[in-house]
Amino acid sequence: MSEIAIVYWSGTGNTETMAKAIKEGIESEGGDVLLKRIEETRLDDIKDAKAIVLGSPSMGAEELAEEMDSFVSQMENEEMNDKVAGAFGSYDWGDGQWMKDFIDRLRKGGFKVVGDGLIIHLTPDEEGLERCRGYGGMILKEIK
Ligand SMILES: Cc1cc2nc3c(=O)[nH]c(=O)nc-3n(C[C@H](O)[C@H](O)[C@H](O)COP(=O)(O)O)c2cc1C
Repeated sequence: MSEIAIVYWSGTGNTETMAKAIKEGIESEGGDVLLKRIEETRLDDIKDAKAIVLGSPSMGAEELAEEMDSFVSQMENEEMNDKVAGAFGSYDWGDGQWMKDFIDRLRKGGFKVVGDGLIIHLTPDEEGLERCRGYGGMILKEIK
């Protein structure tokens, strides 16, 4: 069982690119990561991880992808809030409200959230990828 699980939903690949760069950041600091698409993830896969890093683009009208919304509800029901949590995702025309709401929800649920979540406009460029790697490093530090 990996110490950190990254679970994400991505329609057109931008959030997935972020997820992979966060994984690189964790691994470059010696951390052990499970990276999974949310469609293929069960709560059992993440139950022993110390940190869970959740990725969803802004969808609907400043909302989480439905799959992420229901996954987080399951986590809340199972009281998995002893974990450190990270959050990230890509957006386009909005102002990032979906991520502010997501972070509030995780904090209210008792998770120890790292930073304020990481958002990137559309496809991350090299600087964006570096921010993702850096966020991975921050999450690893939080559990060490
Ligand atoms: C149905 C739909 C709804 C969206 N709603 C928003 C939105 O409310 N705010 C926003 O900033 N971007 C919105 N977007 C843009 C996506 O967040 C953006 O294209 C993002 O890069 C997609 O990430 P992905 O490649 O990981 O799927 C929406 C896109 C789609 C397809």
